[in-house]
Amino acid sequence: MTAGLLLCLVAAMAETGDSALVVRLPEPARAGAVSVEQALWQRRSVREFADEPLALEQVGQLCWATYGITLPLPGGPAFLRGGLRAAPSAGALYPLELFVFAGNVTGLDPGVWRYRSETHELVLVRPGDRRAELAAAALGQEFIARAPAALCWSAVFSRTTNKYGARGRERYVMMDLGHSGQNVWLQAVALGLGAVAVGAFVDEEVKLAAGMDAREEPLYIMPVGRPRG
Ligand SMILES: Cc1cc2nc3c(=O)[nH]c(=O)nc-3n(C[C@H](O)[C@H](O)[C@H](O)COP(=O)(O)O)c2cc1C
Repeated sequence: MTAGLLLCLVAAMAETGDSALVVRLPEPARAGAVSVEQALWQRRSVREFADEPLALEQVGQLCWATYGITLPLPGGPAFLRGGLRAAPSAGALYPLELFVFAGNVTGLDPGVWRYRSETHELVLVRPGDRRAELAAAALGQEFIARAPAALCWSAVFSRTTNKYGARGRERYVMMDLGHSGQNVWLQAVALGLGAVAVGAFVDEEVKLAAGMDAREEPLYIMPVGRPRG
């Protein structure tokens, strides 16, 4: 199948909604019951998760907190790719990419999905439950496989280094990641969920598990779910 035909197929299926190749996420909420202060007080690393599914709304809200568009700028420069986002980025260059390893999410087939900020959609990268592969790639941190879903960030460093050189690699991309990761962590707490940041993993194995492009480098994993007990 040619790339063009595949794209048409994906687009058509997204429109009819009878395929799981592209999933439109529910509109993100703009208000919640938990204040920023409460979320900061409550945030802890959670590694034990209840055996219950996440809702698609929750996954959508977490993706939005990561890198969702908060100020659409459709006529803006190409590098913005849609507008300004929930997390800041040096030069508004947005080097990060987000993957969702879904295992137990209502309304979302198990698989690895890439978040498309511009349209607030998930695009299937690899079908099937890949959480155990991710846990193995993270040096056997099994709690990753027991969370209903895990987020995984990568970076396309060149988006930032083309403008900022070494400073972009050594500082700005990691600073961007910290902002995005903390957004998700606090959003998880505000949704009554728990999460933990995972930085210990074998890069090449995570890259394979997620189905990342050659130009992407994996940076962070965050399993999310309802805390057990
Ligand atoms: C950059 C970074 C990498 C981390 N990597 C891991 C990890 O690989 N595995 C893990 O269980 N926790 C990991 N953590 C979580 C820390 O262990 C945790 O944040 C710390 O013990 C403080 O606890 P708290 O998050 O509950 O405040 C990481 C945290 C950060 C910020």
